[in-house]
Amino acid sequence: MRTSRIRAGLALTGTGVAAAGLAMILASTASAATTLGASAAERGRYFGAAVAANKLSDSTYVTILNREFNSITPENEMKWDATEPSPGTFTYGNADRIVSHARSRGMSVRGHTLLWHSQQPGWAQGMSGTALRNAMMNHVTQVATHFRGQIHTWDVVNEAFADGSGGGRRDSNLQRTGNDWIEVAFRTARAADPGARLCYNDYNTDGVNAKSTGIYNMVRDFKARGVPIDCVGLQSHLTNSVPGDYQANLQRFADLGVDVQITELDIAGANQAAVYGTVTRACLAVSRCTGITVWGIRDSDSWRTGQNPLLFDNGGNKKAAYDAVLTALNDGGTTVTTPPTTPNTSPGTTPPVTTPPTTPPVTTPPGGCSATVTVNQWTGGFVATVRVTAGATAINGWRVTLTLPSGATVSNAWSANRSGNTGTIQWTNVDYNGRVAAGQSTEFGFQSSGTGTGLTPSCTAS
Ligand code: G3I
Repeated sequence: MRTSRIRAGLALTGTGVAAAGLAMILASTASAATTLGASAAERGRYFGAAVAANKLSDSTYVTILNREFNSITPENEMKWDATEPSPGTFTYGNADRIVSHARSRGMSVRGHTLLWHSQQPGWAQGMSGTALRNAMMNHVTQVATHFRGQIHTWDVVNEAFADGSGGGRRDSNLQRTGNDWIEVAFRTARAADPGARLCYNDYNTDGVNAKSTGIYNMVRDFKARGVPIDCVGLQSHLTNSVPGDYQANLQRFADLGVDVQITELDIAGANQAAVYGTVTRACLAVSRCTGITVWGIRDSDSWRTGQNPLLFDNGGNKKAAYDAVLTALNDGGTTVTTPPTTPNTSPGTTPPVTTPPTTPPVTTPPGGCSATVTVNQWTGGFVATVRVTAGATAINGWRVTLTLPSGATVSNAWSANRSGNTGTIQWTNVDYNGRVAAGQSTEFGFQSSGTGTGLTPSCTAS
């Protein structure tokens, strides 16, 4: 793949006497978040990094990762060649290590990627037709099931559109199994992990161009026909500049009813810091741009050898680009409110039943919070997504009480601490999602055995 092309501010307005202005500046400085993840979280977003399992023993790397980021994308460890090296034999060691690192620290995980023309195991590269279609569906089912309940967003399909003026699909063994392979992949992924947001991910799609328009048309078609897609990922491997219509492009996808995420951001060349700031502000300006991932931590961790496209130098020091991103994040923008995943429409599998929120609208007192729950039920289990909404004033922490029906036992949970696995469970915020602005929301979720009927969460601000 090739890189393409590709812009911060702390605006403090003092009025009146100099002393009053100084007081405002001091107050603002004192409240500004000091890490990328904490600042993004204040806007309901994540700020993530691509992580390599073999660097988790590098203390400089891990110190930066744990301090700055609240989302991780495994750089290579979830790809087909890594997870299914021979047909039907699945190896998850490195991917599990990354997921465990993330989740034990309250970070979310982007799964990358279920299907891609590149980094396929040799045995799949040599397949075609129905055999490849079956292998592909089995791969999606097995991998998404293995990680069920642990993945915030899956890149279900990566880089399936061609570069150039046509706006059509890339030729690949997967494409040659039939043009419907992408929607089959999304339906299969939804059936395997109903709680994960499902994303189509690509590069050279940063402005409005033939390729991004081809993808736009596909997403519009999927939404019209009920194919389960929740998100479009723009990789944003950039050099020197960002297209002038970058934000408009994000917005047109969001207007289709999907989230947008900046999934592999790195920026080489001149104006690096300014371009990082521009990209960050564009995401913050689009309420459905839910997060940014940089494709590595230090320049020396980048796949773009010698181009120094990341936020930390080889020694782990913050670069000007880092300051530009943090300043843009702290300047603010819209706050994200993400709807739950759409119902599954998978043929040939038992579709999970999506039930509407089981709690009626709650009148929230000023300073308080309310909670609603959405359940995706399948035979024998369910995923619940709990939305916590602040009242008329911001809250700095929350506690949700939720009683499970008998027979239900929580096996996995994300974005919250919990007091137990059965009966009445207390759920409290993790460090990155405790602060919720007035009237805004954050979410946590869990996977459970049994039946998720009659769930009635209550929320207390702390
Ligand atoms: O792990 C082996 C090592 O054992 C061996 O000695 C060495 C020799 O070449 O190769 C190592 O594997 C390399 C792997 O990265 C881990 O470093 C592969 O050769 C190399 O091909 C692989 O490159 C990855 C590339 O995807 C593959 O296409 C990059 O790390 C990864 O950053 C890059 O990520 C992609 C996204 O998935 C999709 N979008 C584009 C992005 C950049 O290409």
